[in-house]
Amino acid sequence: MSQGLVTMSYIVASILFIFSLSGLSHQEKARSGNRYGMIGMGIAIAATVMSDTVSSYSIIIIALLVGSFMGTKAALHVKMTQMPELVAIMHSLVGMAAVLVGYANFIDPTSVLTGVEKNIHEVEIYIGIFIGAVTFSGSVIAFGKLSGRISGNPVLLPARHWLNLGLLITSIWLCIHFVESVQTGGGTWVLLLMTLIALAFGVHMVMAIGGADMPVVVSMLNSYSGWAAAATGFMLGNDLLIVVGALVGSSGAILSYIMCRAMNRSFISVIAGGFGTTSGGSARVVEGEVQKINIQEAAELLQDARNIMIIPGYGMAVAHAQHTVNEVCKLLLDKGKNVRFGIHPVAGRMPGHMNVLLAEAKVPYDIVYEMDEINEDFPDMDVTIVIGANDIVNPSALDDPNSPIAGMPVLECWKGAHTIVLKRSMASGYAGVDNPLFVHEHTQMLFGDANDSMQAVLKALRN
Ligand code: TAP
Repeated sequence: MSQGLVTMSYIVASILFIFSLSGLSHQEKARSGNRYGMIGMGIAIAATVMSDTVSSYSIIIIALLVGSFMGTKAALHVKMTQMPELVAIMHSLVGMAAVLVGYANFIDPTSVLTGVEKNIHEVEIYIGIFIGAVTFSGSVIAFGKLSGRISGNPVLLPARHWLNLGLLITSIWLCIHFVESVQTGGGTWVLLLMTLIALAFGVHMVMAIGGADMPVVVSMLNSYSGWAAAATGFMLGNDLLIVVGALVGSSGAILSYIMCRAMNRSFISVIAGGFGTTSGGSARVVEGEVQKINIQEAAELLQDARNIMIIPGYGMAVAHAQHTVNEVCKLLLDKGKNVRFGIHPVAGRMPGHMNVLLAEAKVPYDIVYEMDEINEDFPDMDVTIVIGANDIVNPSALDDPNSPIAGMPVLECWKGAHTIVLKRSMASGYAGVDNPLFVHEHTQMLFGDANDSMQAVLKALRN
């Protein structure tokens, strides 16, 4: 394929990726957004494989087969609840690719660059490997935390901020040393040392972040993976990778900002590992009597209600209850009730988790509201059903300054007349914080698996 045609294909692919991102930001257009992305990626791979930069087709074909096999297997077998971990581990692969491409470029015997061009290329390699290694180790730790293999509690080393600053300054100093060493044919040890520092930096950064901060970490690593891809693009001289990497990097950065705003945190304090830890005191102990409700009573409350709010959380994903929830919702709408869904920005384990589940169950988009749109309406609610949610409806975020989630806006369902909480036990949520909502005078607990409980409520409502 001629270079002109390759460039043309790259431009088309870039435009399709922009359409894809734009589509993915609206539930109604998410499917077409996905399609644009797939077509764009297909064009990008085809153009790259057919370009004259490829010298060995057998290696490309083997890599394509192995990659396609692994991707298909993961996509077919992964459960919806494992999606956040899958995304994290995918980010780690982007980071690892950047590191490997960096080293391949460094030892490339065919490189003919000299003078300033060579220096610039060496800096590209250095930065590419640094970002790649941070993304790789950070994503592996995020994978461990999201899958429960590593505790969500923050690991706070003494003088951790100084440690981070020291690692950063050392890396910058090593970069200067690396460019100088390369002139005399060296640089390998400097590069290896920096890679170790970057790996340690990634581990330390994510380990220091508390459970409740993980939404920001997920979107931040998403952004890093984009910058790692862009750095790979610079090293390989591939414009498409630079454009796509910058798109992913900047959209991830915007998402991190949105997540921080949703959680009322400053980005710097989150990545410095400040949030997720308390101001020093211990969180308030929750005391009070739990009021239980049975299926029949829950159905009767819904039957008598006019305004109903449904708040889904991570437990709905675990229980696969979204389809039953939709059935209950349809039945209540048919009975003339005003039913709406309230979605917290960090509900579940990945951005948009609840929206994806509700869309999958075909809940109409126009009754699904964001927290900001709906939080004022709780005093008018006759019944709120909390389905497997915990941290996102925890009042201590607003009134306990020592709580690890202090300051995070939450769905204020306790302001309504009745709140029914569906969960299996009194266990805490992801942030590991007790929840005073469960002993609130307006709250009744419906213990059990969320799907089983919703099925039983559906049956009772039908009868
Ligand atoms: P959580 O606070 O994690 O609470 C989920 C609740 O669901 C648990 O208390 C659990 O209680 C219940 N549950 C689990 N399985 C269930 C089942 N089969 N049936 C019924 N209930 C079940 O979830 P949330 O309220 O959605 O809040 C999200 C949390 O995750 C926040 O802390 C957020 O910061 C964090 N986080 C979010 C993200 C993103 S990007 N959204 C990423 C990482 C972390 P039982 O065990 O008693 O049933």
